[in-house]
Amino acid sequence: MADIRNNFVGIKSPNPFWLASAPPTDKAYNVERAYKAGWGGVVWKTLGEEGPPVVNVNGPRYGAIWGADRRLLGLNNIELITDRQLQLNLQEMKQVKKNWPDRALIASIMVPCEEASWKAILPLVEETGADGIELNFGCPHGMSERGMGAAVGQVPEYIEMVVRWCKQYTRMPVITKLTPNVTDIRKPARAAHAGGTDAVSLINTVNSITSVNLDTFSPEPSIDGKGSHGGYCGPAVKPMALHMVAEIARDPETRGLPISGIGGVTTWRDAAEFLALGAGNVQVCTAAMTYGFKVVQEMISGLSNWMDEKGHRSLDDIIGRATPNVTDWQYLNLNYIAKAHIDQDACIKCGRCHIACEDTSHQAITAMVDGARHFEVMEDECVGCNLCVNVCPVEGCITMVPLEVGALDQRTGKTVSPDYANWTTHPNNPMARQAAE
Ligand SMILES: Cc1cc2nc3c(=O)[nH]c(=O)nc-3n(C[C@H](O)[C@H](O)[C@H](O)COP(=O)(O)O)c2cc1C
Ligand code: SF4
Ligand code: SF4
Repeated sequence: MADIRNNFVGIKSPNPFWLASAPPTDKAYNVERAYKAGWGGVVWKTLGEEGPPVVNVNGPRYGAIWGADRRLLGLNNIELITDRQLQLNLQEMKQVKKNWPDRALIASIMVPCEEASWKAILPLVEETGADGIELNFGCPHGMSERGMGAAVGQVPEYIEMVVRWCKQYTRMPVITKLTPNVTDIRKPARAAHAGGTDAVSLINTVNSITSVNLDTFSPEPSIDGKGSHGGYCGPAVKPMALHMVAEIARDPETRGLPISGIGGVTTWRDAAEFLALGAGNVQVCTAAMTYGFKVVQEMISGLSNWMDEKGHRSLDDIIGRATPNVTDWQYLNLNYIAKAHIDQDACIKCGRCHIACEDTSHQAITAMVDGARHFEVMEDECVGCNLCVNVCPVEGCITMVPLEVGALDQRTGKTVSPDYANWTTHPNNPMARQAAE
């Protein structure tokens, strides 16, 4: 039986599934039930400074994007950090940690970008017995307008400075949560690393407006006829999150820096993908908000079963396994050639592949043959782009078949070379030509 116990920067949990800082981790009542359902850890809803609690809107705080089957694909929110008193949160955290010593409990913190504010809150958090802290440099709305959250996370110098303060004023492991609302995620990660962070976690939510009400012309969610940008999360952001995790995992300057992967994790498969790209564990928010705490049970059993099936004995067998396979475009093998193939028994003759290829690709799929509807790939035209695979409504009906070494590519008239050759040495590359001259 696979061992899915997790050790993330010395913080142990029975599995790699943590709830991300958000409404599911807002209070002891939630967190206790989450642990009962099986979550390995939680990052408590972000704490702010002592004083009057933050104020949320009193109307809708979510916008959403759905698939055709009304499945939630993306969620946007304009919620702020916790609106409960700091002392109440701290008391509850202390009690919860006492009741559940084997589960990870992380305190997420966001206070003004001043040394005194961080110095003041850290001992209070440490007192609860929390296993670590997560610095919320990600919140894209509300708090950033006050110089916190993404306002700090978008300035590498501030990140480094705050991380240094935290390392100075607490013994707890420091996890720096990054905002995806930057052009190059490696820069804030490097800054956190330079400041001495123990780990990074990402992504927080993506700046977004999900929709506009065309009767009132107000963006959703609408508060008295006005909308504001919010933070996007859920399955729709997973590709961006995977990319950013991989960028940090393969950056020579941050290689080996532990990463907690966040963004759209809904099934065990999503989690395994984050781990494979270099995350040491994952955090989940939208899936728990959509399907409830018990969604973790499928994640645990799915991951364990897959690991058993593949002979992976522990998480270390998976973590980072895909990272070396992430490369830059110019290093892809241009001698790898694949052609689409349509399984005629599976084809329902809907014609979508033909339209897609005809109108936007390479006119390589027939529509009629001998007066009958018939969809077949013409190999002498197919460039192997796989658009048809992605638009076909029947899973597995169109597959991409690589040409064997020595086979004739009917489109180019050349045989497939056994050699690996990429753009950096291609004769059409002006840089390569210059180097050769
Ligand atoms: C309603 C809501 C409130 C959130 N509040 C916080 C917060 O207080 N602190 C924080 O660091 N992240 C917060 N997040 C972001 C999540 O922790 C997480 O980074 C993001 O939702 C991506 O994960 P997901 O795709 O699994 O939802 C919030 C997300 C949602 C949906
Ligand atoms: S792989 Fe691309 S070019 Fe080939 S048939 Fe499909 S859509 Fe057309
Ligand atoms: S899209 Fe798929 S099912 Fe439809 S015609 Fe093409 S191969 Fe057949």
